[in-house]
Amino acid sequence: MKAAVYEQYGPPERVKILDINQPIPNKDEVLIKVIASTVNRTDSGFRSAEYFISRLFSGLLRPKHRVLGCEFAGIVEETGSEVEEFKIGDRVFGFDDQNFGAHSEYKVIGEKKAISKIPDNISFKEAAPITEGSHYALESIRAAKIKKGDRVLVYGATGAIGSAAIQLLKHFKTHVTAVVNTQNVQLIKSVGVDEVIDYLNEDFTKTDRKYTFIFDAVGKSSFNACKPLLTKNGIYISTELGKNSENIWYSIMGLLTWGKKVVFPLPTINKEDVIFLRDLVEKGEFKPIIDREYNLVDIVEAYRYVETGQKTGNVLINI
Ligand SMILES: NC(=O)c1ccc[n+]([C@@H]2O[C@H](COP(=O)([O-])OP(=O)(O)OC[C@H]3O[C@@H](n4cnc5c(N)ncnc54)[C@H](OP(=O)(O)O)[C@@H]3O)[C@@H](O)[C@H]2O)c1
Repeated sequence: MKAAVYEQYGPPERVKILDINQPIPNKDEVLIKVIASTVNRTDSGFRSAEYFISRLFSGLLRPKHRVLGCEFAGIVEETGSEVEEFKIGDRVFGFDDQNFGAHSEYKVIGEKKAISKIPDNISFKEAAPITEGSHYALESIRAAKIKKGDRVLVYGATGAIGSAAIQLLKHFKTHVTAVVNTQNVQLIKSVGVDEVIDYLNEDFTKTDRKYTFIFDAVGKSSFNACKPLLTKNGIYISTELGKNSENIWYSIMGLLTWGKKVVFPLPTINKEDVIFLRDLVEKGEFKPIIDREYNLVDIVEAYRYVETGQKTGNVLINI
């Protein structure tokens, strides 16, 4: 089968399209013919190993899994002898950041992992980008313990994580202020936020407004800059470690102190989360934003684009 393979950590050019053996499902796994995937910041992070810590999961010296691609949508081609939930021909989607493998024509995954059936009204291309940005967003929203009516500010609201966060926050009935650049103001209003701040014309930190939760979905702000905007027990979460990994240290200190604090949730995803997100998509409450798409053979270009840090929502890969 054709696959985008990387043998060493490094820049996008390390990824080559090769013919490799098709995986064989174990008795509790399904074999999926992948139709659509994405290139996202998780794939980029593991491929570049920019943060050394990622190697603790993916292999110290070289990658354990040679094919990336954590998001997938496709058709069940074969089932292991103990698989009960899925049958051949089912349309499925999900997330796998342990074994990856969706940047190829076939991948295997355990039926109890983060995988579910695709609703009839959703295409493969719409299903592929449901899980990556949204599960980071969901984990952060849960960690912030928001309540209905809370005022929340999302900085970097047009990224995969930010654009999922604002839609999930509206589902949880909070008041959402999104910070975006001028060209994305209309797009982000169409997603249904309550207020939009154009960061090219206005410094969002120069305000008297207070927020229960500030979510920096793109890791470009800091706790100290945002602290004056937080309510008495307000929570700040960033998707990045911050200068000198300060968000980790602040979050540890926050365990011992009262008042405004940084929380640094560790992202996880399970089948229940995938079903929760799927149901929102089916009801039209969550629609992952798709920026552009590439064919598998052009995956290096896709990585280069994702690593500009300027994608809007998600970048699809047609397998
Ligand atoms: N290491 C990992 O495994 C991992 C995994 C997932 C995510 N992350 C991190 O999480 C962050 C978000 O990921 P993502 O996929 O959601 O990002 P993304 O899709 O790449 O975010 C791009 C968006 O960020 C906004 N942006 C860029 N520079 C900005 C700035 N200076 N101020 C405000 N907004 C800015 C842009 O919006 P505008 O067009 O409005 O400027 C753009 O739409 C990234 O920093 C990423 O590294 C890391």
